[in-house]
Amino acid sequence: MAVVRIPSQETVLTGQQEVTAFLGRYGIEYERWTADRPVGADASNDDLLLAYRHEIEALKARGGYRAVDVIDVRPDTPNLDAMLAKFSREHWHDEDEVRFIVEGRGLFHIHAEGAPVFALEVAAGDLIRVPRGTHHWFDLCAERRIRAIRLFQDTSGWTPHYTDSGVDAGFQPVCFGLSYVPSGPARL
Ligand SMILES: [Fe+2]
Repeated sequence: MAVVRIPSQETVLTGQQEVTAFLGRYGIEYERWTADRPVGADASNDDLLLAYRHEIEALKARGGYRAVDVIDVRPDTPNLDAMLAKFSREHWHDEDEVRFIVEGRGLFHIHAEGAPVFALEVAAGDLIRVPRGTHHWFDLCAERRIRAIRLFQDTSGWTPHYTDSGVDAGFQPVCFGLSYVPSGPARL
């Protein structure tokens, strides 16, 4: 389940309803997906795409997404640091950033216009859709593990455009984990 932190307001948001409502203010869609069939940790990419076929097809129709793939990142993935460095600086894309997390965790920082930067930690079962043009950056959590289904309108739109604002330097990529957060709204 996703967790939102707003450092400047010392606020943590948890719970599907609260997180969905908060993200919706910035045009970010959040859903929880369940598989049509059981999927084990050893499921192939094709198995995964089949298990979530209904959700994927519905989202493709809704968002005009044409390409779907699975990204699988582990601590020993070659050139992992170089790969992560491309996305851990504030940037935006010409198309939506759509991720369904199958395994592991990740941390988005979202810097919407006129709003305080907030952190969005996503975990297995979370689908997020960040609209094109939204300023953001991404880090893995400490275990450096994520497996996610990605949807694209056009993979050529996937190039990051860097803002070079320096805003990202003011935020630590620290994942929280639900286990550290009391249920419901909480103050840090
Ligand atoms: Fe991105």
